[in-house]
Amino acid sequence: MSSTATAQMASLAVLTALFCATLAASGAAGVRVELTRIHSGLTASQFVRDALRRDTHRHSARQLAASGGAATVSAPTRKNSPGGGEYLMTLAIGTPPLSYPAIADTGSDLIWTQCAPCGAQCFKQPAPLYNPASSTTFGVLPCDSSLSICAAALAGATPPPGCACTYNQTYGTGWTSGVQGSETFTFGSAPADQTRVPGIAFGCSNASSDDFNASAGLVGLGRGRLSLVSQLSARKFSYCLTPFQDTRSTSTLLLGPSAALDETGVRSTPFVASPAEAPMNTFYYLNLTGISLGTTALSIRPDAFSLKADGTGGLIIDSGTTITSLVDAAYQQVRAAVVSLVTLPTTDGSATTGLDLCFALPSAASAAPAMPSMTLHFDGADMVLPMDSYMILDSGLWCLAMQNRTNGAMSTLGNYQQQNMHILYDVGQETLSFAPTKCSTL
Ligand SMILES: *[C@@H]1O[C@H](CO)[C@@H](O)[C@H](O)[C@H]1NC(C)=O
Ligand SMILES: *[C@@H]1O[C@H](CO)[C@@H](O)[C@H](O)[C@H]1NC(C)=O
Ligand SMILES: *[C@@H]1O[C@H](CO)[C@@H](O)[C@H](O)[C@H]1NC(C)=O
Ligand SMILES: *[C@@H]1O[C@H](CO)[C@@H](O)[C@H](O)[C@H]1NC(C)=O
Ligand SMILES: *[C@@H]1O[C@H](CO)[C@@H](O)[C@H](O)[C@H]1NC(C)=O
Repeated sequence: MSSTATAQMASLAVLTALFCATLAASGAAGVRVELTRIHSGLTASQFVRDALRRDTHRHSARQLAASGGAATVSAPTRKNSPGGGEYLMTLAIGTPPLSYPAIADTGSDLIWTQCAPCGAQCFKQPAPLYNPASSTTFGVLPCDSSLSICAAALAGATPPPGCACTYNQTYGTGWTSGVQGSETFTFGSAPADQTRVPGIAFGCSNASSDDFNASAGLVGLGRGRLSLVSQLSARKFSYCLTPFQDTRSTSTLLLGPSAALDETGVRSTPFVASPAEAPMNTFYYLNLTGISLGTTALSIRPDAFSLKADGTGGLIIDSGTTITSLVDAAYQQVRAAVVSLVTLPTTDGSATTGLDLCFALPSAASAAPAMPSMTLHFDGADMVLPMDSYMILDSGLWCLAMQNRTNGAMSTLGNYQQQNMHILYDVGQETLSFAPTKCSTL
């Protein structure tokens, strides 16, 4: 998902407010922090847009780190409603634990859920609303915590007692705002393998747009310090996205040493170092050097996807974006290659599906023609996408499930292209590994 966060100091008590006001007058508070997520995550087809409209402290880290990195946490994960564009992981918050589904997003960092009290400003979620007042483990995150979005705004000054940090995080579609808290989270479905992790910093949202209503929030799995990956000090994590049209099967997302690929045919490619500036420091960049359709290597300049020194360009892998987007120079090559293989009449699906290359099938019942696989040539690792991972049937049209971006912009490998692939992010070794897998049977 793409995001922007603005944060500002808020206060819990009147005295605190006065203190904050004093700070504001001295210029130490009231500074707004902006984290911009530059790509737009979920603006794919109309199908996806409709779906989105309907739906798109370090104690813990120290404890897990002290256990020799032995702790692995798990979360059952599944695709949301048939028209939705996200994958949801189930986790639980507070004491007693309250279970809820959240969008699993490797393209952002903040972990957030909706908190009571919240009225008209909250969206209707498919799980009971979490109430911090009913949990014995909730705390407001101190403004000088290393995990406070407001810490930088304090610039080393001592925060007023009771100071709370409020945020407004915006995504490609939608926004959420609230106050940063700290809570115990519970991971794992079976009681036997449940893990409770105290002191996780999260966003307690009391106002959001309607874009997330198939979920009860979002879990950021990016590289930044606020992400679940960083807060657990997990050096690796894995997931396997079940087929896009399959909303029943679940697979398991693992964070920690047990995350591993046991299949045959595992390929690995190094991550490209991310720029230090936000939001690029959140992203997992890959080195894509070429694309083939069938046995034909497409004529794409080797630097089409290169990450520039100024942080522009590059290609990221993102579980929270639905449709892959490629810089136009590469997209046009893919588009032309697909057109050359299909004899059906083409139609511009931009207005209905948001995808510009579509084909009209002879009838609604017609099967789509067979297509060869598409290969993404990463540095040292070929990723083979079967037809169903790059073509999509939408409103009676059969479309290339890819979009273009201005040349020089960032490209994104979306979740549609990741279905039925077991993927391991080894943050310690700085490599991404993957293997084709039937995720619903994993
Ligand atoms: C989400 O909200 C939209 C309105 O914005 C509504 O049409 C849709 O039914 C809701 N979806 C769910 C799953 O509640
Ligand atoms: C958060 O930011 C979005 C986008 O700028 C804006 O539409 C929304 O009103 C803001 N929400 C709050 C509570 O300030
Ligand atoms: C959300 O919480 C903030 C901070 O406590 C408060 O200022 C704001 O009025 C609340 N918004 C809503 C819609 O309840
Ligand atoms: C990307 O991969 C190519 C081919 O292996 C290699 O020559 C190039 O140095 C790599 N670029 C980066 C930034 O790692
Ligand atoms: C994307 O492709 C369409 C046609 O395929 C073209 O009209 C449009 O200008 C392209 N957009 C960008 C940003 O290159």
